[in-house]
Amino acid sequence: MPKPTTAFTCTACGAAHKKWAGRCDACGAWNTIIEEAPLSQGPGRGLGAHKGRAVPLSGLSTSEPPPPRARSGMEELDRVLGGGLVPGSALLVGGDPGIGKSTLLLQAAAALSRRDLNAIYFSGEEASAQVRMRAQRLGLGDAPMRLGAETNLRDILTTLDAERPDVAVIDSIQTLWSDTVEAAPGSVAQVRAAAHELVTFAKRRGVAVILVGHVTKDGQIAGPRVVEHMVDTVLYFEGERGHQFRILRSVKNRFGPSGEIGVFEMTGAGLAEVSNPSALFLSERGQPFAGSAVFAGIEGTRPVLTEVQALVAPSTLASPRRTVVGLDSGRVSTILAVLEARCGIPFAGLDVFLNVAGGMRVAEPAADLAIAGALLSAREDNALPPEAVLFGEISLSGALRPVAQAENRLKEAQKLGFTQVILPEATKLEGVGGMALRRITDLTGFVGEVFGAG
Ligand code: TYD
Ligand code: MG
Repeated sequence: MPKPTTAFTCTACGAAHKKWAGRCDACGAWNTIIEEAPLSQGPGRGLGAHKGRAVPLSGLSTSEPPPPRARSGMEELDRVLGGGLVPGSALLVGGDPGIGKSTLLLQAAAALSRRDLNAIYFSGEEASAQVRMRAQRLGLGDAPMRLGAETNLRDILTTLDAERPDVAVIDSIQTLWSDTVEAAPGSVAQVRAAAHELVTFAKRRGVAVILVGHVTKDGQIAGPRVVEHMVDTVLYFEGERGHQFRILRSVKNRFGPSGEIGVFEMTGAGLAEVSNPSALFLSERGQPFAGSAVFAGIEGTRPVLTEVQALVAPSTLASPRRTVVGLDSGRVSTILAVLEARCGIPFAGLDVFLNVAGGMRVAEPAADLAIAGALLSAREDNALPPEAVLFGEISLSGALRPVAQAENRLKEAQKLGFTQVILPEATKLEGVGGMALRRITDLTGFVGEVFGAG
């Protein structure tokens, strides 16, 4: 009989290790590896010792209609979910503490209950009275949803089994504890066991279960990282402290497109939906200044305009600063290298600061041209035309590559009053009139065309 293997797991990233170590190789965290109870491997566990039953197999064709979806009526949320909540699905909503997850899900549960769905909200972090007070303040006092303050998994499951709601919110997965697991609440073992039970329950009983998980600073869901693959949908609620905008982003969705975003604004009366995010992200844009470029982007299925801002200043440091917020810093380094190697425009000896206005995060390679535009404009102290938007991917050779959904980008820009587009030469466009197109083949051409020879 094989010896029971003891498992060691990192509580920060969930990586499995053969033996204990002071530092996790996977995420680099110190003192996070814990020993977990061995998997029982009694007789009959190995293949051959015990004959399994044949599993019934089926084909692919079906006459079943697609799953009905429960719409909350909060358009920004329903779109991120791919058209509404699917019964029997399991969701994970991750985000920094204090970003607004509890507020969002309280509002969502109330909205669903107002549409005749049975919604239950379990809070393990706040007492029912506290949640009730918040609901009053948000104007949700009359919604027919119900609250429970509980952290015991067994009690929660028993309650859910008796109530059979349509939707159950568990806030948060880190507060749950199961008496079958000997580990502290919030540990990987507890979180994994609780999530497994709840996801299984969701499938078996057709209840949509929404799990809330807190995230660590580095963007990983602490402990609950291991939950990501168990659930059908993973949503992140993100935003910058000090900005009122909040973005709900789907990073995984078995029932809809991933990469979709919903935009909210944190107000004194809870989260308000923002149906026109471009207008919001550009609203703080004042007089045109050197270092500002408007990027016509696509987030999920919808176009969003954002402002990329750059500041370039002489550096006193041996290795100048590269401070990037809201953009991929690897991408920015590549663009700086291409500008230097292909266009002969060095940034050595210069500090570079780059960010996206409004606390938005942009990950599309199509933002390359706007980043280059902002950098060049800041370096040359020469503002880009205020009526222009930019998009295009920059290759290592300095050539500009066309990007998808050009028409959508143009239409959004036009809607917001822009009249000019700087875009890759090879972009295929149909049926967008009224915009001046400045087609560019490569980065050198861009420097010449926009900044006059560079
Ligand atoms: P919360 O939903 O408790 O965050 P999480 O569950 O992600 O930890 O949100 C807490 C923050 O939101 C808190 O700092 C106050 C702010 N807030 C508002 O600005 N307006 C509101 O109406 C509410 C309910 C919260
Ligand atoms: Mg909370």
